Amino acid sequence: MLVNLKSLIEDAEKNHYAVAGFTTPTLDTCEAVLQAAEEMNAPVIIGQAQLYDAFGPVEKLGPVMARMAEEAKVPVCLHLDHGTSIDYIMKAVKAGYTSVMADFSDRSFEENAEIVKMCVAFCHSIGVTVEGLVGRMPNVDMVEKAEGNLELKEFFTDPDEIEKFIEITGADALTVSFGTVHGMTVAKPVLDMEHLRRLRKASDCALVMHGSSGVAPEQMKEAITYGLSKVNVYTKVSTSAQKAIMEAVDAERPLYYHEIEAIAKKAMKESAKETIRLLSNGYIFR
Ligand code: 13P
Repeated sequence: MLVNLKSLIEDAEKNHYAVAGFTTPTLDTCEAVLQAAEEMNAPVIIGQAQLYDAFGPVEKLGPVMARMAEEAKVPVCLHLDHGTSIDYIMKAVKAGYTSVMADFSDRSFEENAEIVKMCVAFCHSIGVTVEGLVGRMPNVDMVEKAEGNLELKEFFTDPDEIEKFIEITGADALTVSFGTVHGMTVAKPVLDMEHLRRLRKASDCALVMHGSSGVAPEQMKEAITYGLSKVNVYTKVSTSAQKAIMEAVDAERPLYYHEIEAIAKKAMKESAKETIRLLSNGYIFR
């Protein structure tokens, strides 16, 4: 069943778990995640990120993913991850996306809020939900370049800006920065739980955590108990395919591409299931 973010967030808030938001740039990834969600009987979020459009153009794959979501046995939100231009966000909406992330966090607070407000006005008029971002999300390249000297606090969301942002924009969910890093595989970032608690106190809006692949399971669980409704994961699921493929490769035997694809899909499905289980915070999906 294809839905927008609203009902998923409501259910997550009611039952104290976080809904898993997986980036699915290709149809294989999308199928693997949907199979995982169906096997767990769990609602799920799928969708392209603007950054990965070359691997699965949103105009071409959006309608196919929307159809896959419609046919799924669980509620599925087709959500654009990190839409960083109005043009691209419009493309996603036209392609059948039911939710978008309008990420203008590289602008000033005022500009970010003004653009997201515009997106919300349009998107809400057609039943599409919107996620914003206040603060900034660092990525693993920045960490590596800085050779361990990146001051993550400089990226943190200012608690004083949250409520103001939601009031101005009317966004349905908000990504906040409190120590996670996109694509983190080199080390486990230590999340600033005190900061997350300050953010939670500042507003009752739905909070989203990005860059969750590198987060230790105990930290993930703790962060969810402080009130995260949506947790984004990509690196962990996508790179699980690499190990499985490498184990299967045998120089003496030709491996068909469809076999490689099936191996990758199975590994990604298992990894997605593990993530959904962790984010469920003990809640049993019925
Ligand atoms: P990871 O790839 O670090 O899990 O982050 C995913 C994400 O936040 C997508 O927006």
